[in-house]
Amino acid sequence: MFVSRILVILLGLCCQSTESSQPFLDFPLLSGPSQALLKKPVDFNCSAPRHPENIVIQLQLFKVGDRSKLLGEQTSLPGEVRVIPMVVTKNNEGYLECEASPQNKSRYNIASVVSSPHYLKVIEPVKDAEIIHSGSLEIFEGQTLKLDCKISAGNHVTYLWMHNGRPISQSPFSYVRDEHFWIFRTTSEHSGRYMCVATNAFNNKQVFTSNSSEVVITVKDLISDLEISFDVLKEDSQNYSALVTCHITRGSPPITFSLHNTKELVANVTTGNRSALFRVPVVLGQHTDWFQCQANNGDQTTYSEWMPIKVVPVAGPVMMHFDYDIGENYAIIGLRFYCKAAVGSHLQYRWFLNKTLLHQRGSFYYVEDQAPEQSILLLSVGVSSTGTYHCQVSDSFDNTTTIRSASRYLDKEVLNSLPVLVVAVVFGCFTTLISLVSICCCIGVVYRKRVYGERSPLGLKMERGKTAYEDDLDISDYGEDYLVLQAAKEVEFDQPSQASLDE
Ligand SMILES: *[C@@H]1O[C@H](CO)[C@@H](O)[C@H](O)[C@H]1NC(C)=O
Ligand SMILES: *[C@@H]1O[C@H](CO)[C@@H](O)[C@H](O)[C@H]1NC(C)=O
Ligand SMILES: *[C@@H]1O[C@H](CO)[C@@H](O)[C@H](O)[C@H]1NC(C)=O
Ligand SMILES: *[C@@H]1O[C@H](CO)[C@@H](O)[C@H](O)[C@H]1NC(C)=O
Ligand SMILES: *[C@@H]1O[C@H](CO)[C@@H](O)[C@H](O)[C@H]1NC(C)=O
Ligand SMILES: *[C@@H]1O[C@H](CO)[C@@H](O)[C@H](O)[C@H]1NC(C)=O
Repeated sequence: MFVSRILVILLGLCCQSTESSQPFLDFPLLSGPSQALLKKPVDFNCSAPRHPENIVIQLQLFKVGDRSKLLGEQTSLPGEVRVIPMVVTKNNEGYLECEASPQNKSRYNIASVVSSPHYLKVIEPVKDAEIIHSGSLEIFEGQTLKLDCKISAGNHVTYLWMHNGRPISQSPFSYVRDEHFWIFRTTSEHSGRYMCVATNAFNNKQVFTSNSSEVVITVKDLISDLEISFDVLKEDSQNYSALVTCHITRGSPPITFSLHNTKELVANVTTGNRSALFRVPVVLGQHTDWFQCQANNGDQTTYSEWMPIKVVPVAGPVMMHFDYDIGENYAIIGLRFYCKAAVGSHLQYRWFLNKTLLHQRGSFYYVEDQAPEQSILLLSVGVSSTGTYHCQVSDSFDNTTTIRSASRYLDKEVLNSLPVLVVAVVFGCFTTLISLVSICCCIGVVYRKRVYGERSPLGLKMERGKTAYEDDLDISDYGEDYLVLQAAKEVEFDQPSQASLDE
């Protein structure tokens, strides 16, 4: 231990004596720009603040950790600040340092010293931005759109993506990062002009921008909801055609529609519209075949349901019946006539008041056409709706055969006699309810009577309620008969109406 301690002390003394006897250099100071433009000259200042007299010092600029490449050098006398010029290359970016050493190393045995590092950012202006797209410029919705922005030169670049002249921001279905722009689930809204703008800046002052040329992307809608339907057309006195319509609700044109029957392709057409029309000959009353539409706009074929084509001409009888709405005080305020033909696949209904055709809508009525099943005439009851009503049915493709319903006369008095029935029925229902409650009570009482041996007065009330209910039933039955009768007689309606009121 002792020996080693002596040794350390001796070594310490030895080193101290060497240091003091040798001249030494202070650390040089390096200063200069923090950013530089590529291939442009820049000046760095390096100074050796203090060093022994008469020794010429060599100042050399290196990248930290790389002594193989000298970036610039100068010699300096004591205290001199020397400018080291340098032409910037891309590799110069990083930490630079200045090394000071005696110029004549063989004469002076002085250790070289280095400055603290200085960071230099090298800016290369952006050039020639260009959009690279993998895949087609025309895609279908749901597919992924991938665009990349490529530049021929430039670093420290920020990218901006533009869609139809407006900047794009990140969204749940897109990825915008640096030179990459992806949309994972495209829709037709993503169609349009795309451009990327590459920018970098020197010292936040000089801004370099390169705009790519615009790339036009088309995102096509897939075909959805292909529907098939047909109308009938009378070609001449004997021949009829089915006009088959194939219709889609969505889908980008052009679209190839084709019509198939169970055996073969019937016809095809390519169109810019959302629907296509095909003509198929039909024989009335005969089942022609089953038909299907197919539509294709390049990606996949969409199929409609299979549809039978059968045209049945109108046949009677044509029935007309009605129901109504009751307002306050049991007055009829609204009435609905229903018109229905027994047979017919393509029917056209028409309504008449006093033999005058009623149109789709008037001041007191409204026609709800549910062809071919039925047609409904909605009336608001008042003075203007008074008159005789009937309906007519014909084939929509041929009006030579027209079948007429029975007529029915209506006026306000006739109508307001109807609610008497209603009052009766409602009262009947009410008494039924009371009866039911009474029955329950009665059962309860009978049960209790067994226990207490007592008779309840409620038993009487129950019987009376029952009688009233039966009376009501009679009234309503009579009412229906009377309506049927009325349909046949139509004009002498007022008399039975009085009778009904008397009842
Ligand atoms: C360097 O020093 C040596 C010896 O002192 C001398 O011979 C030589 O000429 C010097 N070289 C320069 C370039 O001054
Ligand atoms: C580049 O695009 C930007 C943003 O749309 C625009 O402001 C600028 O004028 C364009 N520059 C050129 C040269 O087209
Ligand atoms: C009905 O069509 C057939 C061919 O489809 C034609 O030969 C015939 O003449 C047509 N009938 C009439 C009355 O025009
Ligand atoms: C349309 O039909 C013709 C024959 O009638 C056929 O040659 C053609 O390929 C069809 N086109 C399509 C898209 O199916
Ligand atoms: C229809 O005829 C009746 C008489 O039969 C008449 O009272 C009524 O005003 C007529 N209605 C219309 C709308 O012409
Ligand atoms: C049948 O329709 C034709 C044309 O639509 C029309 O000119 C003709 O008057 C109509 N005939 C009947 C009875 O309604």
